[in-house]
Amino acid sequence: MTAPVTTENKLRERIIELKKGLNAVIMAHNYQLPEVQDIADVTGDSLELAREATRIDCEVIVLCGVLFMAESAAILNPARTVLLSEGTAGCPMADMINVDDLRRWKQRYPKATVVCYVNSSAAVKAESDYCCTSANALKVVDAVPNDEILFVPDMNLGHYVSTKTNKRIILYPGYCNTHHRLTAKHVIRAKQGHPDAVVLVHPECRAEVIEQADAALSTSQMLRYARENSAKTFLVGTEEGLGYRLQRDNPGKIFHVISKSLICPDMKKTTLYEIVRTMERRKNVVIVPEEVRLRAERALDRMLAVV
Ligand code: 13P
Ligand code: SF4
Repeated sequence: MTAPVTTENKLRERIIELKKGLNAVIMAHNYQLPEVQDIADVTGDSLELAREATRIDCEVIVLCGVLFMAESAAILNPARTVLLSEGTAGCPMADMINVDDLRRWKQRYPKATVVCYVNSSAAVKAESDYCCTSANALKVVDAVPNDEILFVPDMNLGHYVSTKTNKRIILYPGYCNTHHRLTAKHVIRAKQGHPDAVVLVHPECRAEVIEQADAALSTSQMLRYARENSAKTFLVGTEEGLGYRLQRDNPGKIFHVISKSLICPDMKKTTLYEIVRTMERRKNVVIVPEEVRLRAERALDRMLAVV
């Protein structure tokens, strides 16, 4: 049966055509709009997207997500063109630290090893010793041959790691506007409504939220946990885009995103229309200066060697 002629189907067909013409692969983060996730060749959390970017065979990568994700793909793929699906899609947490801030903190803690969450600019990665994602932060910190760690920029993820390691973690005061909005009260109220539910939250949430949860996991770890766990109902403390994937992959289970305010505006900027425009015009090319790229790649490679 042929698909009905709708604007969405036309855009989808055009994207398929453009992919062939450009020899492109579309990668999308788990928070992207449902129709964007459905058109993607690869979907994943930040770690999976970074890893996949080192294995992909294509000339152009179209990264549907936010700038730091596209920069990671560009850092790991100097020979390929990386297009950011929507030119203004950034990460407010990544913008909470710049190179000058980091240099000041390094002067204050000269003996510390810098572990930098991938939600950061290429320039900040270049100034760091290791990168990590929410899926591997604890493993990376434990693998560092130093007991003093300067963790930037997410204080919530850094604090979560500090509760699981014996190392001294110095926290930089950055946070995700979206996840930081969630409070213990929201979780307690949701649990009252669904007392049998398993509670999964992202480690970018406040400590008081993580204390109320059964597990703190990256977005792809949540997808795996929900698939493998026998519970029928889940309360989810992360950006609402993940709710679509959880429900699609587990039709017999029920997922409630804990708060309606769990929406990252930047993750919602990419539409099928924007993807077509970006590919047609080959715009939003992500350029990382070679001197920065080489140093940022070293921090990413050290992370990829750990996990
Ligand atoms: P994940 O790596 O868990 O997908 O998280 C990325 C992110 O931006 C969370 O806000
Ligand atoms: Fe950044 Fe938060 Fe959006 Fe993730 S959800 S991209 S950390 S602002």
